[in-house]
Amino acid sequence: MALQFTLNGEMREVSGVSPTLTVLDYLREQAELTGTKEGCAEGDCGACTIVLAETGDGKPSYKAVNACLLMLPQLDGKHVFTVEGVATSDDLLDPVQDAMVKTDGTQCGFCTPGIIMSLFALRQSEAEVTEGEIHNTLAGNLCRCTGYRPIVEAAREACVAAPDGLALETLKANDSYQEGNQSFHTPKSITEMAEVFTANPDANLLGGGTDLGILVSKEREVLSTIIQTSRVAELLEINETNTDITFGAAVTYSDALPFIERLYPSFATLITRIGSVQIRNVGTIGGNIGNASPIGDTPPCLIALDATLVLYSQAGERELPIEEFFLDYRKTDLKAGEFIKAIRLPKLSNAQEFRAYKISKRYDQDISAVVGAYRIELEDNTVLDARIAYGGMAAIPKRGVACETALIGNAWDLATAMTMLDFIQEDYQPISDHRASKEYRFQVAGNLFQRLYQDLSGADEALEVVAV
Ligand SMILES: Cc1cc2nc3c(=O)[nH]c(=O)nc-3n(C[C@H](O)[C@H](O)[C@H](O)COP(=O)(O)OP(=O)(O)OC[C@H]3O[C@@H](n4cnc5c(N)ncnc54)[C@H](O)[C@@H]3O)c2cc1C
Ligand code: FES
Ligand code: FES
Repeated sequence: MALQFTLNGEMREVSGVSPTLTVLDYLREQAELTGTKEGCAEGDCGACTIVLAETGDGKPSYKAVNACLLMLPQLDGKHVFTVEGVATSDDLLDPVQDAMVKTDGTQCGFCTPGIIMSLFALRQSEAEVTEGEIHNTLAGNLCRCTGYRPIVEAAREACVAAPDGLALETLKANDSYQEGNQSFHTPKSITEMAEVFTANPDANLLGGGTDLGILVSKEREVLSTIIQTSRVAELLEINETNTDITFGAAVTYSDALPFIERLYPSFATLITRIGSVQIRNVGTIGGNIGNASPIGDTPPCLIALDATLVLYSQAGERELPIEEFFLDYRKTDLKAGEFIKAIRLPKLSNAQEFRAYKISKRYDQDISAVVGAYRIELEDNTVLDARIAYGGMAAIPKRGVACETALIGNAWDLATAMTMLDFIQEDYQPISDHRASKEYRFQVAGNLFQRLYQDLSGADEALEVVAV
C-alpha cells in the first residue's frame, strides 16, 4: 500500500521506502525540497519545522511539527506544508515571509524556513496574537545570528492577517504499511490495536514520536515493528464528568491544554514548558508515562493529583493508581501486549490547592532537573491532607510519604515549610548528573516548599520567572 498525503497542495503517493524514513530525510533527499533544514535532528532547534493540516471536525487545523522526529507514515492522510509551499506565487509571498523581509528578520537564513513555518501555523490559527503567544510560538525555533527583535516584529505584523481558509479534502490513512522486514501499523480502534499488539508484543508503540523518533533520527536505529496510537479513536477521547476528567493516552499536550488550564492552572503552566509548540503538538501524555523517565514532567503531577491509569490488552481492561505503574528505572507494570488506554484525574475539591514547579536550566525547551508537585488541603491553617510527588529525585517519579506524614495535622506556616528538607532526605535518593548535582536537587526540592508556602499564602511578589 502506498502512503498518501498532499505536499504543498499536490497529492503524493509514496511506497518502497522504509517506514522509519524521517520526514526530514524524505523532504530533502526524495522530494528535493531542501528549504527544510536539519540542525540538531532531535527536536530542539526548529530548523526542520513544517506544518501539518487536518480537517478534523470540518475546520482545518494547522500544526507546526519537527520533521526530524516524524516517521513518513505519520504523514499518511494529512496535508503537509513546507516553506516552499506557503507563497501564493513567485511574486506573492505569504504575509509572514513578506514581514520577515521587511523587518530584516533573517541573516544567515538557516533558521528562517523553520521560523516562517511556525509563524505560518500561528497565522492560520484562531489564537489571539499576544506577546505571550508569539513567545510561545517561537520558543522552539533557535536563531543564533539575527536576534529575535525583528522576528517578533514580523510576527506581530503578519500573524494578525486572516487565515487562508483553504478547503482541505479529508484523506484516509492506511491501516498498515510494510517495506522489507519493517512494518508500521495504524489501528483505528482499541480492539484492532490490542489485536496487533498481541500479535507483535515486541513492537514499539508510537504516540507522537518525540521520544521514540530520536532513536530513529539521532541513533539511526532500525525499528522492525511500530504501532501508531494516534489514530485509535478511543485513545483520542477526552471525557469529563462532575468528579473527574479522563484523557485518552494519545491525546496531545496541545489538545489537553485547554482542559488542564481550566481545571489545574498550575499544571497547565508546567505543560507549556514541555519542549516547544512543535513537541506539544504531537507529544502525548500517554507517551510521557509510557517512556517512564524519572525526569518526565507529567508523572509527578499525575501522582500528586491521584490519577488512575486505565490499561488495556486483549485480556481486558484494568485500573492502576499511577504511582504503582513505575516499578524501577524505566521499568513499568505493563504486561506483554498491554498498553495505556487512558489517564483519569479526579477534579480538585474547593478545599484543595494544586501547584507544580519545574526547575530546569532554561525556562523554555529544557528537560527538568527537578519537578515538585503538591496537592494540599488546608482548614484553619492546618494541613488536612497532602499528596506530594517529585521527579528527578529518584530512579522513578515518586510520592513523598515522609513529607506527607510530616505535614498532615500540622500548622501550615513558613516554619513547617522550612523543615521539609529533612523529610525529603528520608523520601528520596537523587543522583548527580549533567543536569544537577545531588546536593542541588535536595536543596531546590526543599526550597520549593517555601515557594509553595508563599504561593498558597497569596504572596505579592512574582514567583514565576518568565522570559517574555
Ligand atoms: C526537544 C524535546 C523536548 C522535550 N521536552 C520535554 C520536557 O520538557 N518534559 C518532558 O517531560 N518531556 C520532554 N520531552 C520528551 C517527550 O516529548 C515527552 O516524553 C512526550 O510526552 C512523549 O510523548 P510521545 O507521544 O511523543 O511519545 P513517543 O515517543 O511516541 O513514545 C514514548 C514512549 O512511550 C511509549 N508509549 C507511547 N504511547 C503509549 C501507550 N499508549 N501505552 C504504553 N506505552 C506508550 C512508547 O512505546 C515509547 O516507549 C522532550 C522531547 C524532545 C524531543
Ligand atoms: S533538526 Fe533541529 S528540531 Fe529538527
Ligand atoms: S538567521 Fe542565522 S540562525 Fe537565524
